[in-house]
Amino acid sequence: MKLLRQGILIAIEGVDGSGKSTLARNLYLKFISQNIPTLLTKEPGATSLGKRLRSLLHKKPVALCPKTEYLLFAADRAQHSTEVVMPALQKNKIVISDRMGDSSIIYQGYAQGLDIKMIEIINNWTMNGKFPDLVFYVRLSAAQAIKRIKLRNKKLTSFEKEGKPFTQTLVDGFDWLFKNRSNVICLDGRNSPEIITEQAFNNFSAWINKYHE
Ligand code: TMP
Repeated sequence: MKLLRQGILIAIEGVDGSGKSTLARNLYLKFISQNIPTLLTKEPGATSLGKRLRSLLHKKPVALCPKTEYLLFAADRAQHSTEVVMPALQKNKIVISDRMGDSSIIYQGYAQGLDIKMIEIINNWTMNGKFPDLVFYVRLSAAQAIKRIKLRNKKLTSFEKEGKPFTQTLVDGFDWLFKNRSNVICLDGRNSPEIITEQAFNNFSAWINKYHE
């Protein structure tokens, strides 16, 4: 693989239970094993403020209207971009983020009816104008994602508690959003973590050889 002369931002997206966090971790380990400077991060919860916001958003001890919910994700995103993402990109690292702004477009916009154009504007502002160079979309059906979440035997987050119709809306939303995007690589979440990681790495290598001199 060519030496990086600029940072590259990769976002991993998908519904809860799709295997996206496993891919983020495995891809990170793969890059590190090849001595490629890489940072693994996530939204929400990568900064000190983000950890507090993540806990609030996962547990919802008080009711949040969709706009407030989105603005808390946006606050996490602004802090994440400024404190973590931009500095690492300036050091020419690969930054792998487990979720980014597209999750808000789907969870708060498509699924909860917030104005998607408004979310795009605020996302852009919070991300300091830097969108992912590449997105890996781990696609899994709602039924399979819910089955996996139940097998995890972990306390469910407020989003995981929503059930199948909500998850189906999220799958439809991601399919709709990514259909016409040229920088999105869709990976079949039914495959094993090893196969998905290999596919992501091979796609990344092909992409970088094509687009980065
Ligand atoms: P996770 O880190 O375990 O994926 O949990 C984060 C949850 O928050 C997940 O259910 C997706 C949701 N989420 C949103 O609703 N909007 C967002 O912008 C982001 C980043 C996550």
